[in-house]
Amino acid sequence: MIKLADSTIDKKDYKILIKFLQKNSYLNQSKITKNFEKKFSRAIGTNNSIFVNSGSSANLLIAQTLLEGNFLKNKTVILPSLSWSTSVTPFLQLGYKVILCDCDNKTLGLDSKHLKILCNRYKPGLVGVVNVLGHSNNFKEILKLKKKFRFELIEDNCESLGSKLKGKSLGTIGLASSHSFYFGHHISTIEGGMVSTKNNKFYNISLAIRSHGWSRDMENKYKKSLERKYKVDEFKSLFTFYFSGFNIRSTDFNATLGIEQLKKLEKISIIRHRNFLYYKKLLKDFWFQDSKLNRISSFGYATFVKNRFKVFKYLNSKKIQTRPLICGNMAQQPFLKKINLNKTNLSNARFVDKFGIYLPNHANMSFKDIEFVVKHFKSVAKPIKF
Ligand SMILES: Cc1ncc(COP(=O)(O)O)c(C=O)c1O
Repeated sequence: MIKLADSTIDKKDYKILIKFLQKNSYLNQSKITKNFEKKFSRAIGTNNSIFVNSGSSANLLIAQTLLEGNFLKNKTVILPSLSWSTSVTPFLQLGYKVILCDCDNKTLGLDSKHLKILCNRYKPGLVGVVNVLGHSNNFKEILKLKKKFRFELIEDNCESLGSKLKGKSLGTIGLASSHSFYFGHHISTIEGGMVSTKNNKFYNISLAIRSHGWSRDMENKYKKSLERKYKVDEFKSLFTFYFSGFNIRSTDFNATLGIEQLKKLEKISIIRHRNFLYYKKLLKDFWFQDSKLNRISSFGYATFVKNRFKVFKYLNSKKIQTRPLICGNMAQQPFLKKINLNKTNLSNARFVDKFGIYLPNHANMSFKDIEFVVKHFKSVAKPIKF
């Protein structure tokens, strides 16, 4: 079976987890989590990270921190139509006005021409991008628009950990970014996710919102200033809630695993990049995703075929897993069809929804595996250019 995604957790990781359990009686979030957050920040080149229980929770935490910290001039957000359900749902759930933007036909990130039209029309306070399958958005254009329209920018980097744009890690460009450590992602903590930010105020408010809205986890400066502002004494301080929070913490057990996983990230992203280039070489007649990165920590090989269902069935019979390109056009998902969203022109996303497919790429795949996939894929697939 050539699987779409494979585990990154091995026997050495299990041994370290067993040692952790033998050594510790307190298993909840504590010093090891802090240590994982520090190491993660260092690995991607940012200042602060907040470990949570999933990539979806990371998006939820970002959406709420932006509101609680008054980071936005208004609650209109432009989000990618080619994304994941929980790249969008936190914003709907928290009362943002959500506008979907079409995707670019090379990067599969936001289409900057469409984004410009939407910025002119809706004057958003926030734009969220998804770095799709290890590839970058066109940040050069998006940052120009950010300057012109003065919106905040956030990145959902759940599919692109380890990718680098001119030496800079994806997930360090916007005000905050989210990452996922679910099974089969670049690294895994079983379930898990991270918010990263260079902004100290954002970091501290996120720490509070992650844990019920209390100030316990915040840096002293922030904690003391809240206690002064609300006249909270030492007796009540642990049980005073300053922000409308959640409990979306993870544990030191998962963080122990995260620290071990992080050691493998570089190697994993090099293999994923190498696999991407090999697919591209073997599939010259087919569309490929291109975003001019110097490191593509590829999450799957995206392309388009005329006869997608036939390709899916045939590859399935050869024990090769395939799937839709992320999950197609978000606007066509049942949960969004039920809502009266502002209609925008999503012709590229509709194309992706109809013809997009992605082929397996993970760090346990060899060139032989890729040749096997390509041989069977080519024998049935009819190429289509975007
Ligand atoms: C773009 C994107 N955002 C968010 C998520 C959610 O991450 P998680 O499964 O850790 O909640 C995913 C899941 O794969 C994703 O692809």
